[in-house]
Amino acid sequence: MKSTRGVCFFLFVIPLVASPPLRAEASTRNEEIETCLSCHGEKDASLTLPSGEKQSLYVQRDVFEKSVHGARQGCTGCHPAQAEVPHPELKARDKAAFVAGFKDLCKTCHFENYTKALDGVHYQILTKGGSAPFCVDCHGAHDIASPTVPRTRVSETCGTCHGDMAETYAKSVHGLALAAGNPDVPVCTDCHHAHDIADPRTKDWRLTTIDLCAKCHTNKTMMGKYGLSTNVLASYLSDFHGMSAKLAASGEKPKIITALCIDCHGTHDITKAKDGSSQVLKANLQKTCTKCHAGASKNFPAAWLSHYEPSMKRAPLVWAVGVFYKIFIPFIIGGLCLQILLHLWRVLVNR
Ligand code: HEC
Ligand code: HEC
Ligand code: HEC
Ligand code: HEC
Ligand code: HEC
Ligand code: HEC
Ligand code: HEC
Ligand code: HEC
Ligand code: HEC
Repeated sequence: MKSTRGVCFFLFVIPLVASPPLRAEASTRNEEIETCLSCHGEKDASLTLPSGEKQSLYVQRDVFEKSVHGARQGCTGCHPAQAEVPHPELKARDKAAFVAGFKDLCKTCHFENYTKALDGVHYQILTKGGSAPFCVDCHGAHDIASPTVPRTRVSETCGTCHGDMAETYAKSVHGLALAAGNPDVPVCTDCHHAHDIADPRTKDWRLTTIDLCAKCHTNKTMMGKYGLSTNVLASYLSDFHGMSAKLAASGEKPKIITALCIDCHGTHDITKAKDGSSQVLKANLQKTCTKCHAGASKNFPAAWLSHYEPSMKRAPLVWAVGVFYKIFIPFIIGGLCLQILLHLWRVLVNR
């Protein structure tokens, strides 16, 4: 290590040693960048760590200038500890420790996202000693770009590690629309968030997916563009599956596994309802129901109303019963009230 350090100093520091320690924070941003890059802008600037591992110290000027920070931030906003040259003695013994030393650099300015990330699944894995991404793994360091421009960037970012999900999603009704430039469909982070990602396998989170789907699928202006029904939530909630999901969400009953939107439609593989491979296409529906209703017959789905309200055309019997009750019940109650009133009147008259 000593020797490499010696080389660095020989190359860059000699002219500076005579002057008083350079206080980068006192100079303007541009001067600061020029100063830092006078050493770190050299392609072969590097360091050999005590472990023997070689670490490049090269920062590409054009890449940094094009990044989101390049236009207004200097170097010391992220590297306050290296504002003085020569820098304080490096404590890292190996590459892992060297990289870990940069973990909290973003916290000063992006405190909110930082604290959110501490609540996410990735961080939980990190604290258990596993490998999972933190800021730099998703965003980069000197080459940070706007993470949602274009919007397909989001699934590309997550897809670098979750390739199978990203591939499945790309073929779904939402993913295909996204690739075609549709701004309305959900990307990974609309459903999972980017920083405070919840564990998607818990029952509690799964129950929240109803509201997630409903947020868009009950939006009349949005769904109007695609000619899709916004009655899907109301019809679901008035159905046995939706009713028990509501009960489970309010914690009134022990949580049973009822059918959520995602159990019938899928998650990353949602297709148009009329698509040949759709899990909710009439021809495939029996298979979807058998996931939970073991031994459901071919006619089993037919006994169920899907998202439809009963009508004269669809489920006429259910519709007729509904209409009958709508007329019959007010009739009975009205009759009862009338009878009581007549009774009272007679009592009063006969007194
Ligand atoms: C005179 C050359 C020189 C200048 C100017 C310089 N550095 Fe360094 N820098 C080094 C050397 C050499 C190392 C290797 C480790 C060490 O000696 O501390 C290093 C290491 C680093 C590291 C790695 C972490 C660490 O603590 O070693 C960072 C980050 C860094 N410099 C940032 C900066 C910033 C920001 C500036 C501008 C304010 C800057 N450097 C200016 C020579 C320089
Ligand atoms: C947005 C914050 C940010 C800014 C601004 C920034 N850096 Fe860094 N820098 C980082 C992070 C994060 C790392 C660790 C990279 C990693 O883990 O891959 C790093 C690493 C380094 C290293 C160690 C070598 C390496 O690439 O890992 C040097 C040297 C360095 N930066 C110098 C600079 C210089 C010079 C500037 C100004 C031109 C600068 N940095 C601006 C965040 C920043
Ligand atoms: C010194 C303060 C500072 C630090 C430290 C800092 N940032 Fe930033 N960051 C900013 C500012 C200010 C902006 C807004 C840039 C602009 O619009 O000019 C920004 C923008 C961003 C954006 C783009 C936001 C958008 O909506 O396009 C991302 C992503 C980002 N930072 C990530 C990071 C990461 C990751 C780190 C740590 C490696 C980091 N930042 C460290 C100040 C900082
Ligand atoms: C798993 C990947 C991932 C990790 C880890 C991650 N981000 Fe992000 N970040 C994203 C994505 C994707 C977006 C785009 C916003 C969205 O889709 O909600 C984003 C957006 C941002 C933004 C700009 C938008 C905003 O919310 O202000 C900033 C700033 C940011 N992240 C900073 C950070 C910091 C700081 C860390 C570390 C504590 C971090 N990110 C960790 C993926 C990640
Ligand atoms: C650098 C790699 C990397 C990136 C990028 C990444 N993840 Fe992860 N993610 C992991 C690892 C590793 C796990 C731990 C579980 C595993 O081994 O699959 C994980 C776990 C998860 C989990 C919990 C489910 C599980 O299997 O434990 C979710 C949800 C998740 N990631 C979503 C995302 C989203 C959304 C993004 C993009 C914003 C993203 N990830 C980006 C590596 C990554
Ligand atoms: C429409 C909402 C939605 C979108 C968009 C979405 N997901 Fe998911 N994701 C879910 C739901 C719901 C689950 C849990 C479902 C399950 O267990 O089958 C899940 C589960 C996961 C899991 C854990 C799977 C497991 O069982 O290990 C990961 C990882 C994941 N998603 C990553 C991603 C990535 C990456 C993207 C973007 C390419 C993405 N998701 C897009 C809703 C979504
Ligand atoms: C961010 C808004 C948004 C969210 C969240 C969302 N969707 Fe969608 N969804 C759309 C849009 C927009 C379309 C229409 C895409 C097109 O046809 O190009 C669509 C299409 C669909 C279709 C295809 C309808 C058809 O037959 O054409 C189904 C099924 C669907 N979504 C189910 C779901 C489910 C289930 C969830 C929850 C896991 C969900 N969506 C979450 C916006 C959303
Ligand atoms: C028990 C299974 C099941 C559940 C649970 C379910 N759906 Fe459906 N869904 C279907 C079937 C079957 C169809 C096809 C109806 C048809 O075209 O005849 C459908 C159609 C749709 C459509 C297309 C509507 C259109 O206008 O073409 C959307 C969007 C949709 N469902 C969203 C949802 C949402 C959101 C939820 C949760 C609130 C949900 N579904 C719950 C089975 C289900
Ligand atoms: C994820 C599991 C799951 C899936 C998939 C599912 N169901 Fe159910 N279903 C349940 C559970 C649990 C109950 C009983 C509790 C309740 O009322 O929700 C139920 C109740 C019912 C009932 C009420 C009568 C009875 O048997 O208890 C009917 C009818 C029904 N489902 C039809 C369907 C049809 C048709 C499909 C396929 C389109 C389907 N279900 C898919 C879990 C599921």
